[in-house]
Amino acid sequence: MDLKVNGKTVSVEADESTPLLWVLREHLGLTGAKYGCGIAQCGTCTIHIDGQAVRSCTYPIGALSGEEDITTIEGLSEDGSHPVQQAWVELDIPQCGYCQPGMIMAVAGMLNNTPDPSDEDIDAQVTNICRCGTFTRVREGIHLAKTKKA
Ligand code: FES
Repeated sequence: MDLKVNGKTVSVEADESTPLLWVLREHLGLTGAKYGCGIAQCGTCTIHIDGQAVRSCTYPIGALSGEEDITTIEGLSEDGSHPVQQAWVELDIPQCGYCQPGMIMAVAGMLNNTPDPSDEDIDAQVTNICRCGTFTRVREGIHLAKTKKA
């Protein structure tokens, strides 16, 4: 099927039950989104479908029509200038970094819907797991990112 990924139309041949994460990583070489738990719990595989954060490890490509705009961390901005990326650099948020592409995509997705989130909004909407425990800095980063312009 044809998919729109990071602004380009690409053709992939895969069974319709194939998780989108596999298509992105194995077929298209976009390895920013990571495999973590495989059951949509940890969030390291988060990407956007039409601007909404989605956990791609359990999302079958058969559920897509091909019309959706799929965005991975590689396509979030051309030069790392998305407000969330700027805040992440400024506050040096990642530790080992494994969870952070998914964390950034989850945060960017939340800000699309909730541009000025409270701590309660953050707790409810960013449920990604970070094994290094960067949660305090992530929260600080979200409050910084919401003050920045794209
Ligand atoms: Fe290491 Fe989050 S920075 S798992």
